[in-house]
Amino acid sequence: MTTVLKLGGSVITEKDRTETVDVANLGAAVEALAGREDVVVIHGGGSFGHHHAAEHGVSTTEGTHDDEAVRAIHEAMKRLNAAVVEGLSGEGTPALPVHPLSVASRDANGRLDAPTAHVETMLAEGFVPVLHGDVIAHDEKGATILSGDELVVALASALDADRVGVCSAVPGVYDESGEVISHIDSFEAVADALGGSDETDVTGGMAGKVRQLLELDAEAYVFGIDGLDAFLDGRQPGTRID
Ligand code: IPE
Repeated sequence: MTTVLKLGGSVITEKDRTETVDVANLGAAVEALAGREDVVVIHGGGSFGHHHAAEHGVSTTEGTHDDEAVRAIHEAMKRLNAAVVEGLSGEGTPALPVHPLSVASRDANGRLDAPTAHVETMLAEGFVPVLHGDVIAHDEKGATILSGDELVVALASALDADRVGVCSAVPGVYDESGEVISHIDSFEAVADALGGSDETDVTGGMAGKVRQLLELDAEAYVFGIDGLDAFLDGRQPGTRID
């Protein structure tokens, strides 16, 4: 039973302080993951990725041919990835880094070629692959941003995952009155309640996440750090999206 888990950048980093890990939240996440098997971890950029991307004018659709810019974004994401992998391995989890720039790309239609075989082999061998949002080569555009959310969708369907978790800075998807919606089964039903993304989040906010998660066969959940244990235990924290 394969689980795909996204740790949002705004959960594991302090979003307003450049390249700062949220030590308490990362600690809680690695503790919750200790001893779990058959799980793929994907983390976002938070204060490591987004400002470098914004500074260089790179987004999921706006590409760059500036190799220095690509390296600046990628190296920042690698620093965060190293912190996540180290945290996990410190709790005894057999975590291995997977850097999308080296193994993923997009074609001219924007279609993602995800590192499915790499991840599958790692899982089969008992490892916990740890991927991240990144900057990747994009046919005819140079390089563009790959969000962790897009990786979640691509890998969850390619691996036929049973459960998908998106651990975010909020306890679930809010309705217009600020209550967590317990179940979403169509985008139209919640479109009005979902706001846009904040300025430096180059990959889109909650609306984009919900839209993508609805496309999956797997049961998906959006929850906060306090719901992570429950999600990994097979319970239903936050908002169920399917
Ligand atoms: C962004 O990944 C990666 C870069 C900006 C390089 P995500 O879009 O998944 O990051 P968060 O979770 O929103 O921070």
